[in-house]
Amino acid sequence: MITIVVAMGLDNEIGADNQLLWHLPTDLKHFKELTSEHPIIMGRKTYESIGKPLPNRTNIVVSRKKDWFEEGILIVGSIKEAIKFAKKINEDIFIIGGGNIYEQTLELTDKLEVTLVKANLKADVFFPKINAKIWEKRDEICHEKDEKNEYDFCFQTYERKIKLS
Ligand SMILES: NC(=O)c1ccc[n+]([C@@H]2O[C@H](COP(=O)([O-])OP(=O)(O)OC[C@H]3O[C@@H](n4cnc5c(N)ncnc54)[C@H](OP(=O)(O)O)[C@@H]3O)[C@@H](O)[C@H]2O)c1
Repeated sequence: MITIVVAMGLDNEIGADNQLLWHLPTDLKHFKELTSEHPIIMGRKTYESIGKPLPNRTNIVVSRKKDWFEEGILIVGSIKEAIKFAKKINEDIFIIGGGNIYEQTLELTDKLEVTLVKANLKADVFFPKINAKIWEKRDEICHEKDEKNEYDFCFQTYERKIKLS
């Protein structure tokens, strides 16, 4: 099972200046619960934005750069290679961004774990449109903003209507 995890605004915005657009501790906790103990695949820019390997998960970073090494992460030269390695580690694989990687992996993905943030924010990176002909929303749990979380948001789970073979 390949799952994309993404937090997006109302216009599918996900990032600006290589940073996230919001501070939502409840979403970070949700992300940790979903991905811990599983391999996570990310683009080089997302890795640099996080700045360090995320603990208790195999961090697989996709880059075309040659001769780049960093402690605590597995660097691979293609998405195909990333998925091949991830499958050897665990059958549940999580793709965690960013925009460039989401665009290339959406068609390979079985499930979307979306945090829909109820805001319109200025961004330079976006998630592709979720096509209702392909994806069905199976679950939604919404939270109102509070002293820790600056916007209302909903956790949504989408599954493919037609399974990948
Ligand atoms: N809201 C969210 O859920 C969320 C999640 C993750 C990230 N983000 C945001 O998204 C933004 C970053 O996204 P981005 O689209 O700019 O970059 P990205 O997808 O994180 O990384 C792009 C990089 O990945 C490598 N890459 C991409 N496709 C490849 C391929 N087929 N083979 C080998 N390497 C490949 C390249 O690295 P090299 O240049 O090294 O070759 C490319 O420059 C940031 O603002 C971040 O905060 C948001």
